[in-house]
Amino acid sequence: MQVDVILGLQWGDEGKGKIVDYLADKYDIIARFQGGPNAGHTLVIDGKKHVLHTVPSGIFREGKINYIGNGVVIDPITLMKEIDTLEKEGVPVKERMIISKRANLILPTHKILDAASESSKGSSKIGSTLKGIGPTYMDKTGRNGLRIGDILEEDFIVKYELLKNKHLQLLQIYNHSFELEPMEEEWMNAVERLKEYRQVESVYFINESLKKGKRILAEGAQGSMLDIDFGTYPFVTSSNTISAAVCTGLGISPKHIGEVIGITKAYCTRVGSGPFPTELDNEVGEKLRKEGGEFGATTGRPRRCGWIDLPALNYACLINGVTKIIITKADILNAFDEFGVTTHYKYDNKETKDLPYDMVNKVIKPTTIFFKSWGNIEHDQPLKEELKNYIDYLEKYLNIPVAMVSNGPGREQLIDLTEGKLLA
Ligand code: GDP
Ligand code: IMO
Ligand code: MG
Repeated sequence: MQVDVILGLQWGDEGKGKIVDYLADKYDIIARFQGGPNAGHTLVIDGKKHVLHTVPSGIFREGKINYIGNGVVIDPITLMKEIDTLEKEGVPVKERMIISKRANLILPTHKILDAASESSKGSSKIGSTLKGIGPTYMDKTGRNGLRIGDILEEDFIVKYELLKNKHLQLLQIYNHSFELEPMEEEWMNAVERLKEYRQVESVYFINESLKKGKRILAEGAQGSMLDIDFGTYPFVTSSNTISAAVCTGLGISPKHIGEVIGITKAYCTRVGSGPFPTELDNEVGEKLRKEGGEFGATTGRPRRCGWIDLPALNYACLINGVTKIIITKADILNAFDEFGVTTHYKYDNKETKDLPYDMVNKVIKPTTIFFKSWGNIEHDQPLKEELKNYIDYLEKYLNIPVAMVSNGPGREQLIDLTEGKLLA
């Protein structure tokens, strides 16, 4: 069997959660492979909104396994809060969720270090979600990290104290005040509760599942332009967010990767600092934010808004080997008579589709063409000509088929352009 992948092609918040929840019905296992509680994935089921941070977006589907892979970083406090909310809503999380022993733990001092590092950067701060992501991945690659499997070991507290003390020494270089004890107490209580959840040795779990014919859907967090290697560095997150990370974040061979489904909004947003060539820092951007409800699902921060950026989208498709595109928030463009599509960048006296090496310091002028909007999308009607034209243009530009168009936050607000042939 193969592993299909859903991931974001922009700077996050493309609507991945909604699409994963919808498609989860066709799979046996829904697996997160990277990132952590910096993610905020919104699902709207029967008019009720749910926001997930660490738990995969298949959790509302009966009979599915939701797997948190080794590539994910876990904060027991956030995870337990999320579980409590879900259980209050009647979702049997213990039955449906499994965690890799190899997933790294976010300690309270990782969160403090994140905040200290950000505030020391002043105006050049990354705009981190302050969930401790960067410091935790630093400890992982620095070979100092604590992992989920460690919480069941006898020497867990010894290991914890060792790492905590290292962090306390590090914190001395910052002028940052903090109160560790209450956070630590809450964290230890959450760790105690986490012991009751199923842990597995990743490699055997996932490969034996594949051998048994289980269908797996990998759920990306963040977006390709936030990738640690290929994003707008240093304004990125600390994990690889692209399809290659599915292999390292779950423990599978590349030969098992099937469809790579890339999600893009019909326009573009970014939250936090960093380059955003198509940003509309004016009343048009303001209107996109208002109509699209563009406020962060994790931090509530207003998202920066602009027109869709095809050079960046093309770049993201190349890195990921995208086989199908899904466009979300098509309904939001109804608020405009016409909307922009950036086709090229101008910099260094040339017009090009290629992204420059240094997106931060290069002055990029976007070349933008305009398309007519399509009005309301009716599910039982043939596709409007204007929408068809836009889809045709995107498919030709990217040389990848558009499989679905999402026209509302609700689970069923989707138009399938492949007549159910999206999945292999
Ligand atoms: P994710 O991080 O990629 O899962 O996306 P977020 O949940 O952070 O942000 C996407 C937002 O758009 C959420 O509020 C969704 O409920 C909403 N959304 C998703 N698809 C659509 C759509 O097609 N139309 C509208 N209007 N909202 C959508
Ligand atoms: P989902 O999965 C949008 C951004 C932050 C910041 C940068 C680094 O919901 O799409 P970090 O906390 O990772 O150190 O922050 O990355 N960022 C996201 N932006 N959606 C996300 O996740 C994000 N996760 C991190 O705003 O600019
Ligand atoms: Mg989000």
